[in-house]
Amino acid sequence: SDPGLVERARAAKAALGDRVFVLGHHYQRDEVIEFADVTGDSFKLARDAAARPDAPYIVFCGVHFMAESADILTGDDQTVILPDLAAGCSMADMAAIRQVEDAWDDLVEAGVADRTVPVTYMNSSAAIKAFTGRHGGTICTSSNAKTALGWALAEKGEGGKVLFLPDQHLGRNTFVRDLGGSLDGCVVFDPHQPMGGLTRAELEDATMILWRGHCSVHGRFTLEAVEQARRQIPDVKVIVHPECRHEVVEAADEVGSTEKIIKTIASAPDGTSWVVGTELNLVRRLGAMFPRQKIAFLEKNVCYCSTMNRIDLPHLVWALESLVEGRVVNPIRVDPEVAHHARVALDRMLALPG
Ligand code: 13P
Ligand code: SF4
Repeated sequence: SDPGLVERARAAKAALGDRVFVLGHHYQRDEVIEFADVTGDSFKLARDAAARPDAPYIVFCGVHFMAESADILTGDDQTVILPDLAAGCSMADMAAIRQVEDAWDDLVEAGVADRTVPVTYMNSSAAIKAFTGRHGGTICTSSNAKTALGWALAEKGEGGKVLFLPDQHLGRNTFVRDLGGSLDGCVVFDPHQPMGGLTRAELEDATMILWRGHCSVHGRFTLEAVEQARRQIPDVKVIVHPECRHEVVEAADEVGSTEKIIKTIASAPDGTSWVVGTELNLVRRLGAMFPRQKIAFLEKNVCYCSTMNRIDLPHLVWALESLVEGRVVNPIRVDPEVAHHARVALDRMLALPG
């Protein structure tokens, strides 16, 4: 990266001292991670943001829904800044609040809403988190989805259901792989079709009503790539993120959040061969962090998360230098009414055991 910009970022951070706290998601570019005070998966970053009451400015190097969650979890006198407002998440965009409200009306009409608890992946707008809070549900991330889903399925006792938003793969993988549920217990709710494209009987029989959303990066990993890696690399270990499709997760040796992927590889013996199915910035960094292990990317034609990559050093420098000059750029402020209900759902997640 540009040495001039590196120097400017250093100078701005030094000038701001404890007044700024920089959070970096594991998918961020190396040039940005270099200036992060902490790095983490989305769960850890949500907790780290909440644990920083003394810093008036939180610069969130990640995507929009993460910055919104940080704003909800931090105090009123703190400002969360997203260095590029165009850093969204294509999965989060697959569920609009209007569609989710309509879907709930469909569940009411089908007579199943009173037995259904919403479980919403962190990768969603604050408005959908608020919907979740209002309907007795919880937020989850990929690191606590098992506990969150187990809690939600038990909430209504026998015959209880979950509406899982917006990532069908995380919902299905957690239900089947972690909780021993069956694929037959899952249906996919398509928001573009009346009643989600499902019959009343299908909604009644289902345990998991999965929103039709997915990650455009992780959705591209294939079972063929896993099989090819197993043929080509002796004793290879395959580790993937749970946003991957079900057949990919089933074929992998390990599955976990970005933080878990790092920790699993960190604790493996020297000389272990890995192929990793997650975003490319992280996979490259793993190679540099653990040179004594052999780390390869699961699929050649899968690339960076383009929205995560929008946060680059020029944007970070702009956000930091603006603060030095007394200007706040790109603040993320969630409407207080929305934030209140979203916080209920987020707090339910933070209170889950483990
Ligand atoms: P983690 O919670 O595992 O960091 O995942 C966030 C994400 O957006 C994965 O695509
Ligand atoms: Fe969203 Fe996928 Fe990017 Fe994660 S990797 S931020 S789920 S688009």
